[in-house]
Amino acid sequence: MEFVDVIRERRSTRAYRETPVERETLLRVLDAGRLAPSARNEQGWKFVAVQNRDKIEKLYHACNEEGFVKEAPVIIAACGTNPDYIMRCGQPAYTIDVSIALTHIMLRAADLGLGSCWLGAFNEKKVKEVLDIPDKVRVVALLTLGYSKFQPQQKSRKQFDEVVCFDRWK
Ligand SMILES: Cc1cc2nc3c(=O)[nH]c(=O)nc-3n(C[C@H](O)[C@H](O)[C@H](O)COP(=O)(O)O)c2cc1C
Repeated sequence: MEFVDVIRERRSTRAYRETPVERETLLRVLDAGRLAPSARNEQGWKFVAVQNRDKIEKLYHACNEEGFVKEAPVIIAACGTNPDYIMRCGQPAYTIDVSIALTHIMLRAADLGLGSCWLGAFNEKKVKEVLDIPDKVRVVALLTLGYSKFQPQQKSRKQFDEVVCFDRWK
């Protein structure tokens, strides 16, 4: 697919087929995260790819029991390993770095014909318990991954002029 088509066609998938994600495909998806840019090139991230059904069931309970989370053949927990680094602009680097890397993963998944859904609604403490994630590490997001049952409807977006201006704030 053309890159712009990957961006246009990606959707949040909330209904998955039982078909497992092939090992090779999963590795290719995850490798797109490894290649992402990061502040000071610190690459302070770790992606826990979960395929074990018992663990997925437990993650489902940590995600407000949203049904599709239980259906997903893979859940990726995207973690920041250095939450203390604040950039000179005042922003903590880890949420940005991990989000860029997870966006690479999400778009590569779409490129390879997989659906995904970013999850911000989860109980971090429970997720860390299920996956043995160390105390100092932060879980920035979860991503469900798998073959979609159908192509979800396109969500609306604001008009270009509403979100872009040139040379000054307008
Ligand atoms: C930071 C972030 C958090 C999100 N959290 C959730 C979530 O907890 N549950 C969910 O079903 N979707 C979640 N989403 C998916 C958004 O609802 C979705 O991206 C948005 O509605 C646009 O739809 P689209 O991805 O199909 O274009 C999240 C997306 C982002 C970027």
